[in-house]
Amino acid sequence: MGEFSDKVVMVTGGTRGIGRAIAEAFLREGARVAVTYARSDDKARELERMGILAIKCDVANRDEVRRAAEIVSNKLGDVNILINNAGVMYLMPFESYNEELFDRMMGVNVKGIIYMTLEFLPQLKRTRGGVVINIASNAGIGTAFEGTTYYAITKAAVIILTKRMAFELGRYGIRVNAVAPGWVETDMTTANRTPEEVERAKALVRSRTMLSTTGVPEDIANVVLFLASDRARYITGQTIVADGGRIDYLTHGI
Ligand SMILES: NC(=O)c1ccc[n+]([C@@H]2O[C@H](COP(=O)([O-])OP(=O)(O)OC[C@H]3O[C@@H](n4cnc5c(N)ncnc54)[C@H](OP(=O)(O)O)[C@@H]3O)[C@@H](O)[C@H]2O)c1
Repeated sequence: MGEFSDKVVMVTGGTRGIGRAIAEAFLREGARVAVTYARSDDKARELERMGILAIKCDVANRDEVRRAAEIVSNKLGDVNILINNAGVMYLMPFESYNEELFDRMMGVNVKGIIYMTLEFLPQLKRTRGGVVINIASNAGIGTAFEGTTYYAITKAAVIILTKRMAFELGRYGIRVNAVAPGWVETDMTTANRTPEEVERAKALVRSRTMLSTTGVPEDIANVVLFLASDRARYITGQTIVADGGRIDYLTHGI
């Protein structure tokens, strides 16, 4: 018997990185878990062997999201807890604006949350006491890295979307919160980089972090499980920043 043994959980982008850590953490706590993913069929099969339902579904495509909601409801029952984690980051300086890449980030990072929440809403309402958790980023509150301006816009949108969804869905007893991670070691932060480049990035992050450390996916999964639990029953509309304490927030002279 785990803490979530009577719950059905949907995690978008559950095949890798933060989403995978979240999906596995809920599984360990006894939940029935489903994930969506975009391309990683091999990873999806791995998850299926662990007992997780893996559905290929582009969260930026509303028809695919609608189909995923039907599949989960038929196979596992109504979803109690929806984790909107799927996200993409395309680096480009402000002056190198690329419409297609920006639209794709808006599609996955922002519209994906809207579509998922709308299509799973009937299930969340039926379960009375549904929970939605959106994965934002500390980029959305102002931390700066080269090339992340357009990505940061999408994450700022996630933070206001979280507050407004909490405001409008509270009447159904649904809590909506966000987690804003700092630098976490995943494919998003390490793919297509040499080990030296990754080490340089980590050193830069550590130099700007109160705890002088970088994050691992489990750091974010721990916050998500707390927010999803009844221990957080009085919390909604909030964004919890999990980034080791960025010194940038203090500003001036550091
Ligand atoms: N890593 C960080 O430092 C960091 C910091 C702040 C915020 N975040 C946010 O945390 C979330 C997870 O990031 P991560 O670092 O774990 O990323 P990641 O390692 O790149 O994994 C991304 C996951 O999302 C899935 N995905 C991508 N596009 C999708 C789509 N259109 N529909 C459904 N699934 C899709 C991928 O599926 P496939 O395996 O099939 O490609 C994969 O499972 C994102 O929202 C990201 O913006 C990350």
